[in-house]
Amino acid sequence: MAWPAVRLCTGASMPLLGLGTWRARQNDCYQAVKTALETGYRHIDTAELYQNEKEIGQALKENFAAGLKREEVFVTSKLWNNCHHPEDVLPAFQRSLTDLGLDYLDLYLMHCPVAYARGDKFFPFDDKGQAITLDIHFMETWKAMENLVDAGLVKAIGVSNFNISQMEEVMTNGRIKPAVNQVESHPYLGCHRLLESCTANGVILTAYCPIGRPGSQEAEQYGVGSLLEDTVIMDISKKHGKTPAQVCLKWQIQRNVVVIPKSVTPARIKENSQLFDFELSGDEMSAINKLDKNARMVGFWACKTHPVWPFNEEF
Ligand SMILES: NC(=O)c1ccc[n+]([C@@H]2O[C@H](COP(=O)([O-])OP(=O)(O)OC[C@H]3O[C@@H](n4cnc5c(N)ncnc54)[C@H](OP(=O)(O)O)[C@@H]3O)[C@@H](O)[C@H]2O)c1
Repeated sequence: MAWPAVRLCTGASMPLLGLGTWRARQNDCYQAVKTALETGYRHIDTAELYQNEKEIGQALKENFAAGLKREEVFVTSKLWNNCHHPEDVLPAFQRSLTDLGLDYLDLYLMHCPVAYARGDKFFPFDDKGQAITLDIHFMETWKAMENLVDAGLVKAIGVSNFNISQMEEVMTNGRIKPAVNQVESHPYLGCHRLLESCTANGVILTAYCPIGRPGSQEAEQYGVGSLLEDTVIMDISKKHGKTPAQVCLKWQIQRNVVVIPKSVTPARIKENSQLFDFELSGDEMSAINKLDKNARMVGFWACKTHPVWPFNEEF
């Protein structure tokens, strides 16, 4: 049986669970995608920035050869900040499409509202570690992304790391509404206001870092490191015979938020998918909602002073 999905404003269906692939490289990424597809995942999240689209493409190709149909898998990629110039959008999209070995994408996201300097460098930073930016507003980039939909190259477009005002600006001034906003969210960063705005506007929220990137330097640095040892999460997980990671994921799914946990470990890829045989009660959902402490790890700190840096506004 297919795993639960949400309906995008385009009418397309997007599985509530996908495989994240940031920091999954080369053979690890190829194997992870193969394991995920075998396990039943039908949604893969990547980006040009992750430098793993060829490996994902190879794993998809082998699965297609074995009978998986293209329309059964939902593939998302993202336009990185150094390609916001309208002339750079189609070439960047085509690189992703070619590397993935596909003839269309299900979803293409603008990775961040801030435009970086054009060129080959993903991180064009000055000697003080500040991003060198480009004077291109995200609406200009959005219009070039709309042309990808017109050309039939992508089924839906969306944004990532956009705050409520920025998302509304795209909805007001664009021809095509963003189908998705992908942001960092976990019990310590509930994004309750943003979720309310997305729901009211028919935009689907996708949570990245949904289990708080355990063990990472950022998780420790920004106060997220203890998420899987939080007593509220642990008590709920014991009650259901589930792991803390599964509880964090289930909480999002029950809020109709799509989750894309990353793992290259086969046992964890399976663990993260065992979400559809239990239900959190209303009280358990409320107890997790109360854990919010606005603890954000991914802050695009190198462009913090830029006028469209998104995190000046509460999510
Ligand atoms: N749009 C954006 O700006 C943006 C930013 C960040 C991330 N993302 C997307 O969101 C995805 C998920 O975010 P993330 O990778 O940053 O964080 P995450 O999914 O919260 O955490 C990934 C880390 O958790 C470990 N892990 C996975 N399952 C586990 C489990 N059940 N128990 C304990 N540890 C577990 C993984 O290790 P192993 O791999 O070693 O198993 C990995 O180190 C990314 O991969 C990417 O696709 C998007």
